[in-house]
Amino acid sequence: MNKKFYQLTAEERLEALGLDESIKAFYACNQSKDSEQLIENYVTDYRLPEGILRNLQVDGQVYQVPMVTEEPSVIAAANNGASITNLGSAFITTQVGEPVLGGQILFDHVDYEELNRFVVDHVDDIFQAAKEAKPSMVSRGDGLEAVQLEDLTDHRAVLNLTVKTGKAMGANAMNTILEAVKMLFSSYEKNIVGAILTNAGHDAVVSVETKLPVAAVGGLEAAKKISALSTFGQVSPDRAVTENKGIFNGLAAVVLATGNDYRAVEAAGHAYASRDGKYRSLSKWMVDETAETLVGKIEMPLNIGVLGGAIAALPTAKKNLELLGNPTVEELKSVMLATGLANNLAALKAVSGRGIQAGHMKMQARTLAVQAGASGADIQTVANRLIKSPRIDQKTAEDILGAIENDTQN
Ligand code: MEV
Repeated sequence: MNKKFYQLTAEERLEALGLDESIKAFYACNQSKDSEQLIENYVTDYRLPEGILRNLQVDGQVYQVPMVTEEPSVIAAANNGASITNLGSAFITTQVGEPVLGGQILFDHVDYEELNRFVVDHVDDIFQAAKEAKPSMVSRGDGLEAVQLEDLTDHRAVLNLTVKTGKAMGANAMNTILEAVKMLFSSYEKNIVGAILTNAGHDAVVSVETKLPVAAVGGLEAAKKISALSTFGQVSPDRAVTENKGIFNGLAAVVLATGNDYRAVEAAGHAYASRDGKYRSLSKWMVDETAETLVGKIEMPLNIGVLGGAIAALPTAKKNLELLGNPTVEELKSVMLATGLANNLAALKAVSGRGIQAGHMKMQARTLAVQAGASGADIQTVANRLIKSPRIDQKTAEDILGAIENDTQN
């Protein structure tokens, strides 16, 4: 009997795709057994660059932070932002989110009062079902913490569950608990539309702050410009989207490097950014009343873990956590937010100052050199000449490479 594609080994899948030998060989030499267990229809590992944010100081500890990103300027910006904050207070956690995850059982066409009576009568059963679904969590002191029915009007209601997740993000545990609790509502089977975790992270809001002398960003006028630009992130949603993108440049790079779910983190961040009905930046920067200090603050929910999920199957994520000194979940959340705020500071300083292109294009030059076909030592040579040329684009990179190749041949 013919096997289905998902039943094949990674090598067999490459055969089944009928690929060209060179593509097949490329995919085959980038395969790993760990990744093969992680996803369906696996064929190869897709590699992304990882770099280090040096000496990020958070709550008195110094971290060497692994960042995974494809964008050339991100790690340079993070290092720039962090080194500036090291001239002041560095980063301080001002709000530590709870290690909790929310879950929802969604009911349609119900009478809220009647359903609420059912919930009240079965609270103990709900806790018991949750405990039986994940006994190991309960023995660690984690597990279901709260149950509350919410009236959404129009005969819709949501049973909100809050689960203490400990060191793990807890997505799988939450869904297991929800499906067990759902069974208790068999008399409402037709009304249950779904039971799934929520990535909103209402109770998991974390906040990090930094205070630095205005001299660290070039003086009072420069600091005022950073603050003025930050205000646009509060009043212009279009600006806020770009500012938050810059924050996630750093934040998501650490989320990815530590084997966490960057889609969940970003979705929660964007929802939080529009919590009052208008989409705003997740950070705020202002010059304080002394006119000597620039204060920056970031606040958003973070549901992440240092254990479980994909971390166990991603050897580099485990090593990256070791590099960070095996932080607690709380410490890792602060490191992630601090990195986001460091990137944000570098971006605001550049955008309100000389613009981002100068620094950006320096980083971009190497990418353009590679795209033009340069390899080995030629990459840096092409990049160096490109930076000095009037135009920094691929055509110019190709011309420079052509000239270098000509010189070598002659
Ligand atoms: C680029 O990747 C990120 C920035 O656009 C962020 C910002 O404008 O704040 C520089």
